[in-house]
Amino acid sequence: MKLCIRNGLVISPRNDLERLADVYIEDGIVTAITEPGEGSSKTEYREIFAEGKWVVPGLIDLHVHFREPGYEYKEDIASGCLAAAKGGFTTVCPMPNTKPVIDNTDMVAYVSKKAMEANCVNVLPIGAITLGQEGSILSDFEAMKEASGSIFALSEDGKSVMDSLLMKKAMEKAKALDLPIFSHTEDRELAKGGVMNEGEVAHSLGLPGIPPEAEEIIAIRDILLAKNTGCRTHLCHISTKGSVELIRHAKQHGIPVTAETAPHYFVLTDQDVIQGKEGMKTADSNWKMNPPLRSEEDRLEIIKGLKDGTLDVIATDHAPHHHEEKARPFQEAPFGIIGLETSFALSYTALVKTGILTPKEFISCMSATPAQILGIDRGILEVGKAADLAVIDVEREYEIGLDSFASKSRNTPFIGRKVFGQICYTMVDGKVVYSLE
Ligand code: DOR
Ligand code: ZN
Ligand code: ZN
Repeated sequence: MKLCIRNGLVISPRNDLERLADVYIEDGIVTAITEPGEGSSKTEYREIFAEGKWVVPGLIDLHVHFREPGYEYKEDIASGCLAAAKGGFTTVCPMPNTKPVIDNTDMVAYVSKKAMEANCVNVLPIGAITLGQEGSILSDFEAMKEASGSIFALSEDGKSVMDSLLMKKAMEKAKALDLPIFSHTEDRELAKGGVMNEGEVAHSLGLPGIPPEAEEIIAIRDILLAKNTGCRTHLCHISTKGSVELIRHAKQHGIPVTAETAPHYFVLTDQDVIQGKEGMKTADSNWKMNPPLRSEEDRLEIIKGLKDGTLDVIATDHAPHHHEEKARPFQEAPFGIIGLETSFALSYTALVKTGILTPKEFISCMSATPAQILGIDRGILEVGKAADLAVIDVEREYEIGLDSFASKSRNTPFIGRKVFGQICYTMVDGKVVYSLE
């Protein structure tokens, strides 16, 4: 299949590209990036006209939950992949908190097989740090790295490894295998019983809080362990000002730490949890996730962290849950919101449209830097590289609709929100896996 994407604004931070160009693709590889119209005689190419649109390396999400095996009614690998493709993502990393947990070679092979059958986006599995995510016995990292499909990182996401000695041993092993550890930074005891950010809003709603130090105490612990073991450590879903300051400090000291945040942490605050009129305050569980939405001060520091490079990556923590589970009272509903299909538009609207991030800085957060963290040769548009890309109409404004999702779940606080950034095409290895029409 020969394809030419004509006259789009090609943005690829890894090779410092930001210009109008035609992108030629043959057998899944980018074969030429030329001035618009320069190679127009190549009539055998299928043409996609991208005038006024962005052509970017396919987005890469370091943090999703695809629920298969065990909770396929929320999402399975195939539906998760379709949601990813619809959101402009070409590579996703599913977390291992499934049932059973992804903690051995058979489970890694199972995820890889399902991903292969889905035949859509690249799925790079993450293995559990401990067997059954029970926090006591390390899983066999080496075997999972060599498994069919292979893992690309290790994580206990959903909770932290609370035993610091065990976490240190995990980092030593991961370092020897050159695998990064993705840390869900949450102190179990400090967070216990909490359902939203600790503070005035929680108080006014009569809900138990999760304090910022529940996140920060594990963030600093894992920064210290990263320093002492040399293990590449990636801190997941950073939500507080204090964490950003700790990571900034760690980076100034050359500690091998990277960090992600998610769109909800720079778009919303705990104030948004309040629904209903004054005097009739209620909380809606579509605003419930872990870590929770924080204060305005935290939100502003997250943005500052993205701008100054303290926060490297925008991930989604795509966490699908069934409508009936989310319809429970706030305190009983599960934590988590979906994100794959809204991440680009929410982030573009909040960060680029406002002039906070440049297009290149933004695409670094969404594609180039995640690829570097994973050590994969993607996240770049360059001759000779895989043609993983998205064509995006950043001028197109639309309202996020309840019925617009490819995901099996609908648990998002962003229904009805107006955003810019419509994904028009997503391609993986030169194959169209999503098109708007
Ligand atoms: O909100 C969340 N949902 N946070 C997590 O850490 C886990 C995730 C899930 O698996 O639903
Ligand atoms: Zn987590
Ligand atoms: Zn997660």
